[in-house]
Amino acid sequence: MHLRRQPDDPRFALANAIGAETMEQFHAQGDAHVAVLRYHGLENGMNVYDLGCGCGRTAQALQRLGWTGNYTGADVVPELLAELARQCPTYYAVLNYDRTIKAENASLDMLFNWSVFTHLLPAESFLYMEDAFRALKPGGKLLFSFLELEEPEHDRVWRDELARLRNGHDAEQLDTFLHRDWIKRFAREVGFAEPQFTSGTDGSNHPQFWQAIAVMQKPFTTHDFEAR
Ligand SMILES: C[S@@+](CC[C@H](N)C(=O)[O-])C[C@H]1O[C@@H](n2cnc3c(N)ncnc32)[C@H](O)[C@@H]1O
Repeated sequence: MHLRRQPDDPRFALANAIGAETMEQFHAQGDAHVAVLRYHGLENGMNVYDLGCGCGRTAQALQRLGWTGNYTGADVVPELLAELARQCPTYYAVLNYDRTIKAENASLDMLFNWSVFTHLLPAESFLYMEDAFRALKPGGKLLFSFLELEEPEHDRVWRDELARLRNGHDAEQLDTFLHRDWIKRFAREVGFAEPQFTSGTDGSNHPQFWQAIAVMQKPFTTHDFEAR
């Protein structure tokens, strides 16, 4: 993906590069990420993996909000990882380009990625899902955010992009939309239980996320898997 224009303040430049308009927004979004994780079962002591962690919007919020556990953030941009390492010195930051999860088999309680599958080809996201399944413990969860055309606010992104291309400009970045039926199919093929979805406008259990959220759980036993 393309990093955005870099403002003067280096911390803000990195936050802005991953989409935050202000530092206040960066912090509020991080807090919302943690609220989603907590709603879906995050506890102290867990082993979590943040795929496409950027400069640590979620990591900094986890630290700020007092969560304790093992955190690994992986990204393809060294400058972003360096900022994560600066801000959260007890967390692991991993540079990784090869669409795999840098974790042992069945070692993770939660693996999440926010605004990452929105910038990858569906096949790349599928490969990450497959490897997430390997790396998660039985009962572990993969959570990710996505854009769906059925959501009017996301449809606006689609229409803006069409207008841009029609006017002869290049797209600013790759914006990938997924359909819930595709996500269900991917989950089935990989071995996850039926995914749970939250619309971007749903604020009933945690702050509205704007992007939609999918949660896939690795079955606890082979029997759970075969029974589906
Ligand atoms: C919009 S930013 C979101 C960052 C972070 N998840 C957050 O919400 O604060 C997308 C991130 O995905 C990373 N990324 C892009 N392609 C990737 C890939 N193939 N594997 C892992 N991360 C990737 C980018 O470098 C960037 O940090």
